[in-house]
Amino acid sequence: MDLRFEWARLGDLSAPAFHAAMVQREAVFIIEQKCIFPDADAYDLQCWHLLAWAGHDLAAYLRVTDPGSKYPEPSLGRVLTNPAYRGKGLGQLLLTEALVRCEQTWPAHANRIGAQHYLLKFYQGFGFEPVSDVYLEDDIPHIEMLRPAIAR
Ligand SMILES: CC(C)(COP(=O)(O)OP(=O)(O)OC[C@H]1O[C@@H](n2cnc3c(N)ncnc32)[C@H](O)[C@@H]1OP(=O)(O)O)[C@@H](O)C(=O)NCCC(=O)NCCS
Repeated sequence: MDLRFEWARLGDLSAPAFHAAMVQREAVFIIEQKCIFPDADAYDLQCWHLLAWAGHDLAAYLRVTDPGSKYPEPSLGRVLTNPAYRGKGLGQLLLTEALVRCEQTWPAHANRIGAQHYLLKFYQGFGFEPVSDVYLEDDIPHIEMLRPAIAR
């Protein structure tokens, strides 16, 4: 599948691109996960957004908050694959691209995430390790995970 990645601050995304991201985020994090909590928040205004386009479809998406924003480290979040594109390895490609972008944007920084617990092994595959007990966020079990900076 041909994927085109777009990495941009909100102000540099087109309105239709950000709309597509919000449509997928609502569909996944509110409706699919039956989680009646706000999805859009103030982090959207200043973070980086990573969009994976398959033609005109938004196939996968995540955002990255800056160091010192949500956590002292940069932090991946709102990781999703459009349900129509799941199980084809896009989650893997999205994470790989995001970690390359993070390394380019903030060289030699660790990355900290608040991961949904059911994806522990998925994130461990990218070098993240648990650094907290399991906790509830928006009624969903989460665990904080840290990926150390790559030694240079
Ligand atoms: C998690 C998600 C992004 C994976 O997307 P995907 O494109 O289907 O992922 P891939 O095909 O690249 O699969 C990667 C790995 O994800 C993990 N994974 C995917 N779905 C999973 C599930 N339901 N339960 C546990 N692990 C799962 C597996 O480790 C899988 O590797 P495997 O195929 O070798 O077992 C997607 O299922 C999704 O959008 N889920 C809902 C949103 C969400 O929970 N986001 C995470 C917030 S922390």
